[in-house]
Amino acid sequence: MATLAELARSHTDLDEPRLAHLQDLVSSWGLLADLSFADLLLFGRGGGPAADRLVLLGHVRPTTGTTLYRADLMGQVFEARRRPLVSEAFETGTTVRGTVNVGADRDVRVTAVPVVRDGQTVAVLARERIRPVDRSTSEQERTYVGVFDRFAAMIEGGEFPYRDEERLRHRTPRVGDGLLLVDADGRIEFASPNAVSSLHRLGMTRGVTGARFDDTGLGSAMLRSAFARRTAVIDELERTDDRSEVSLSVVSHCFPLLAQGVATGAIVLVRDVTELRRRDRQLVSKDTTIREIHHRVKNNLQTISSLLRLQARRLQGEEARSALGESVRRIGAISVVHETLAQSADDDVAFSEIVRPLVRVVEESVSSPLRPLAFTVDGDAGTVPGQVTTTLAVVLTELLQNAVDHAFPASSTAPDVGDPEPGSVRIELERRSDGLSVRVVDDGVGLPDGFDVAEATGLGLTIVRTFVEGELGGRISLRPVERGRGTVAEVRVPASRLVGPWGDSRDPTG
Ligand SMILES: Nc1ncnc2c1ncn2[C@@H]1O[C@H](COP(=O)(O)OP(=O)(O)OP(=O)(O)O)[C@@H](O)[C@H]1O
Ligand SMILES: [Mg+2]
Repeated sequence: MATLAELARSHTDLDEPRLAHLQDLVSSWGLLADLSFADLLLFGRGGGPAADRLVLLGHVRPTTGTTLYRADLMGQVFEARRRPLVSEAFETGTTVRGTVNVGADRDVRVTAVPVVRDGQTVAVLARERIRPVDRSTSEQERTYVGVFDRFAAMIEGGEFPYRDEERLRHRTPRVGDGLLLVDADGRIEFASPNAVSSLHRLGMTRGVTGARFDDTGLGSAMLRSAFARRTAVIDELERTDDRSEVSLSVVSHCFPLLAQGVATGAIVLVRDVTELRRRDRQLVSKDTTIREIHHRVKNNLQTISSLLRLQARRLQGEEARSALGESVRRIGAISVVHETLAQSADDDVAFSEIVRPLVRVVEESVSSPLRPLAFTVDGDAGTVPGQVTTTLAVVLTELLQNAVDHAFPASSTAPDVGDPEPGSVRIELERRSDGLSVRVVDDGVGLPDGFDVAEATGLGLTIVRTFVEGELGGRISLRPVERGRGTVAEVRVPASRLVGPWGDSRDPTG
């Protein structure tokens, strides 16, 4: 769908500052639609010879009322004479009101407001609403429509959207959250029921209407600043009740109402965000707890490694020593994963990030290289849930260790050849829609004759088989490299295991 900027560039000759003015208007016009209980349409006019064309640059529906238009109208082009009220607003630069008959018994009330910037009409904002059939309006409705009319006058007078208003990414309060109408002296003229409830929670027990805004507990600085700077001001107030120790959070957004540069009042939208803020705090503390736990696990693993190393030094038998040495390496692989988990904010890990550190763990275990080895990593594995990462890390370490231990035995390099070619160990990662494949490819001597993974009795491949088939529901294969030397060890993990507990694991291809 085309954006406001795209539509304006292709259909009108609005320059950047005017376009920015319309974008500012559109960024806060949900408020206007809610106040007017009506659809708002923003019309631009064709440039040059196309001046008899109107293009719909924007549309917003009210959350307080029903929409006239179910379909998406953005980008539609109209002949100017089909929208006479909008055209008249363009021509005269003043607000035009009227009724348009759109069917046997459907009269649409239209208010066409010129959007003026530096004395020039940039666009026309049309408020369109089915005429209510003898329905009496409530005080609230009359008040809101009255406030809308004041905003409309500001739009026509070039005073809205405000200049240099701070833009916020967070969801600011809406009309339905609570609205206060304040006069130029800071007295509350009107308060919606939700606003009254919020003020009661803030400790205001007296009647709200007629009270001074200063007495609401929302802070009078906000209102003064909005009046003085003639722009919207947003404030968040946190108050702790002394007796109950409950802390309350209220966001308020103050819009001054202006007439010829003078503030004649303001509306303040208020929203009780106590519950939201409490949840935010909980999430933050959960997050730090998880990190702290990973950190401690990592430290504990290091302690275990040191204990095993100490014990290995006291042993005499070579076999026993190397067995403990291997355990130290296996624990090292798990530590690497915990290091990564402790740093990342969520439970998912970009698996490629831990491959390099794992290679280092294996490289360190090669005590006296008979032949230099070159490790390379290809492809991307995408993100993988924390638990799967731990298991895969152990599996990958075993496969790397086997390549180091068995693919390049001493006898495979002639002692008198001098500088031998480095042996290559390539780790290939591939993420597809059906799962993840991790391959360790070496160019060594190849598997022994008659080798079968299912019957391998070494501890390494037993661990790999148990983890891959049991924990990951995946498959393992070891086969010779096609048309070449060496071995391919491949592990495949089905896609169903790669989705985190929240089902949001991201696929790098997606
Ligand atoms: N990349 C490889 N190149 C050649 N042979 C391999 C390769 N990977 C595995 N093998 C063969 O598979 C056998 C079984 O490996 P496994 O990891 O189960 O045991 P191990 O490495 O001998 O002992 P451990 O891993 O317990 O120290 C190895 O002894 C070796 O013969
Ligand atoms: Mg092994």
